[in-house]
Amino acid sequence: STVVLAYSGGLDTSVAIRWIKEKYGLDVIALTIDVGNERDLTAIAERAKKIGAVKSIVVDGRSDFVNYFVWPALKAGAIYEGQYPLATALARPLIGRLLVEVARTEGSVAVAHGCTGKGNDQVRFDVSINTLAPDLKIIAPVREWSMTRDNEIAYAAEHNIPIPVTNASPYSVDQNLWGRSIECGILEDPWAEPPEEVYAWTANPDTLEQKEPEYVEITFHEGIPLSLNGEEMDGALLVETLNKQAGAYGIGRIDHIEDRLVGIKSREIYEAPAAVVLHAAHKALETLTLSREQIRFKELVVPEYSRLIYNGQWYSGLHQDLATYVQSTQRFVSGTVRMKLSRGHCAIVGRKSENSLYSHSLATYETGDQFDHNAALGFIKLWGLPMTTQAQAQLLPSIG
Ligand code: ARG
Ligand code: SIN
Repeated sequence: STVVLAYSGGLDTSVAIRWIKEKYGLDVIALTIDVGNERDLTAIAERAKKIGAVKSIVVDGRSDFVNYFVWPALKAGAIYEGQYPLATALARPLIGRLLVEVARTEGSVAVAHGCTGKGNDQVRFDVSINTLAPDLKIIAPVREWSMTRDNEIAYAAEHNIPIPVTNASPYSVDQNLWGRSIECGILEDPWAEPPEEVYAWTANPDTLEQKEPEYVEITFHEGIPLSLNGEEMDGALLVETLNKQAGAYGIGRIDHIEDRLVGIKSREIYEAPAAVVLHAAHKALETLTLSREQIRFKELVVPEYSRLIYNGQWYSGLHQDLATYVQSTQRFVSGTVRMKLSRGHCAIVGRKSENSLYSHSLATYETGDQFDHNAALGFIKLWGLPMTTQAQAQLLPSIG
């Protein structure tokens, strides 16, 4: 019998190929999923075979990731605890689904992943897999074995498992198109400033004095970004382009003390240049195209939506309900936002839309003003009526 392992090519999952065979007697099918991780996936797939996987499968999940996970999250404005654009969290339900799909086509009895027992990722994987395929057994070697990093390296040496050099890094890194998540090492001290070496996608904004600001125009259709500077491009390419462009300005560094679902606080560093720029642009377009009440109500929903992504509840009825609501809010969120990129910062400098609710004749203080100033008097009288009534009946003390 076989087990499908989500294989990243790193130390944990490399050691896992042998360990699963030893411990469970199952043959490992390595599944490597491209969600924009910028690695040589063919080499990774080869490595899995060398280590002992009976089969190695590479799946290009990039367009599914962008269309079904990243764009819905962007439309929702989903940012966990106001800081984290949820890159890792969004990829987990997709990887879970692909594990299940491959397990079905291969007739496997189990799936496996390399998460630890104290993180969010195990919850996201396990809950997704249990929801989609309750009969599949889940093996999580790192959660089950009691190996430290040193033990793993020793185990790898003993079993002739080639470990990639990059694993000398003291950091735990996960990355996909939407962002890069970095943990461990010195970062576990919340007082310690992250050393420059943890960053891979963003330039150090402090060493960029020379760089002139740059403009980028992002055009959206119903909440989805379609083009950069008038050039239409496929979603994954658009995100990659912005990651590079904004990353070169040092935009998108996030340093957050985060509340994990399993109850611990954890220090997380993120690099998410495209996500930061696109969320800002999208929000700017909403301020132009949604009514005051729509914006206010959506702000109540956003933290709930972000939480459910973070907490691994992607395949839930609540998610379907909220996604339907979010989709409806995007009907008129079409138009273009002009952004200025400068050192470590992006600013909205212009926005336009055919569906704009901004009315110059209502807003202007100059000639052509159509706003009915007289109507303001009656409005003020009725708006203040509860207060004037109450002040007289209850003689409320004044403040100050
Ligand atoms: N804390 C983030 C999350 O829960 C990132 C996890 C990153 N995983 C990793 N193996 N470095 O989504
Ligand atoms: C892990 O512990 O596997 C990574 C971190 C997380 O899942 O939050």
